[in-house]
Amino acid sequence: ALARVVADPAFVLAPVRPRLFGSFVEHMGRCVYTGVYEPDHPTADEHGFRADVAGLVDELGVTMVRYPGGNFVSNYRWEDGVGPREERPVTLDLAWRAIEPNQVGTDDFLGWCERIGVEPMMAVNLGTRGLAEAVDLLQYTNAEPGLATADRRVANGRTEPWDVRLWCLGNEMDGPWQMGHKTPEEYARVAEEVGRAMKRFDPTLELVACGSSNRSMPTFGTWERVVLEQAFDQVDHISAHAYYEPVDGDVDSFLASAEDMERFIDAVVATADHVAAVRGSDRRIDVSFDEWNVWYQSRFPGELGLDIRDVAPLIEDVYDLTDAVVVGSLLITLLRHTDRVSMACQAQLVNVIAPIMTEPGGPAWRQTIFHPFALTARHARGTVLRLAVDSPLVATARYGEVDQLHTVATWDETTGELVVLAVNRGLVGDLTLDLDLSRFGDLSLVEHLVLTDADPAATNTAAQPERVVPRPGDATLDDGRLTASLPAVSWHCLRLS
Ligand code: AHR
Repeated sequence: ALARVVADPAFVLAPVRPRLFGSFVEHMGRCVYTGVYEPDHPTADEHGFRADVAGLVDELGVTMVRYPGGNFVSNYRWEDGVGPREERPVTLDLAWRAIEPNQVGTDDFLGWCERIGVEPMMAVNLGTRGLAEAVDLLQYTNAEPGLATADRRVANGRTEPWDVRLWCLGNEMDGPWQMGHKTPEEYARVAEEVGRAMKRFDPTLELVACGSSNRSMPTFGTWERVVLEQAFDQVDHISAHAYYEPVDGDVDSFLASAEDMERFIDAVVATADHVAAVRGSDRRIDVSFDEWNVWYQSRFPGELGLDIRDVAPLIEDVYDLTDAVVVGSLLITLLRHTDRVSMACQAQLVNVIAPIMTEPGGPAWRQTIFHPFALTARHARGTVLRLAVDSPLVATARYGEVDQLHTVATWDETTGELVVLAVNRGLVGDLTLDLDLSRFGDLSLVEHLVLTDADPAATNTAAQPERVVPRPGDATLDDGRLTASLPAVSWHCLRLS
């Protein structure tokens, strides 16, 4: 089947926002311990962080990392994680029923971010704690020496403020599983008051209110409206979280998961704009998609199915080729909404539903989902273009008929580089991409990389870490017309300049 696309450098949606390539480090399973941090590992740096993992984080192109949770943050005492390591208490995290050694905390994380050049996004605990502790933490990280809170940081070895710009006002407070779960009205008041206090310390902070934990939450829509009606002047972004997996073996719908993400974003934007309209405000609240990924939640027993235990593997999903294609497609959707999605965090970074896997004391490797993320983060630059797409349709049980071709393009006027990302989200049936680039003048094809496999269930493991990797595709460019074959279940990165 043929999919026709016309691109034009004049049809600009909005600039690519670098924060779309964020990730997430939670104190959960082996994300922190034996993930990013393992002082006994042969590659550990002087701070105890794994250099092999840091190298892969750099290759992944992550720009921003959210921390320390997730559900974990809603019962976290940040004070337990600062100061001399040998004096830090061992505590119990009730979110994941895990013993927390507190060997990594705020200063350790922020130092790691600074060394590897990523922006931190911190979350405050609005579950078991509230305004006072949030403001204390903010002063601990951001105040100049001379205040008791800041001098505590100085005593712990850091004089200069960390100057964290991005703060989440809690995590998934709409979820009954959350420690300190709240009704929309309860959370709205807390977000307003905590936001007001934090902005009194520094009006230039960017604050993210909790939105919905997924689009099928019973309070979805109402939650966003009530929260924004109350906290509109205090917050800058509202969060969205979504995880995808094939439900009851329905891979057609799974491959079209980006459709759910798209409808989710559109609904949150409409709600935020409705609140603005009622207030007579031109202010735009953007969406922070600060947890998204493929997650086989059906394989997870739930928190109560877990014995209280030390650091141990938790939700270490091994991703296959199909999962990687879905991840590539979700990234396409985030880019296609760069006008209103201000940032996004793939959840999570290492071991826990992650692109990077490690063995304690052993190697680190790239899961299949690493590749679309790394190539997108590396090459999507400049502005996102609106494309004219004429694609065959695929029927899905969950979303109805969707375009078989899912695509986006970015155009960097300064370097003259055009990047087209494309997915054939059909389970069967190859597509021929016919892309009209005549409006760009003289372009040549730099590279066509494809992620596909004869076995859609192929995975990367410690024993075979390079089983699924991007390989050269067959694109040709002739007189402003690009042609490429897109096999069923495949993700593509086409670069031209
Ligand atoms: O990323 C795993 C968990 O998923 C997070 O802790 C929580 O915020 C979400 O429900």
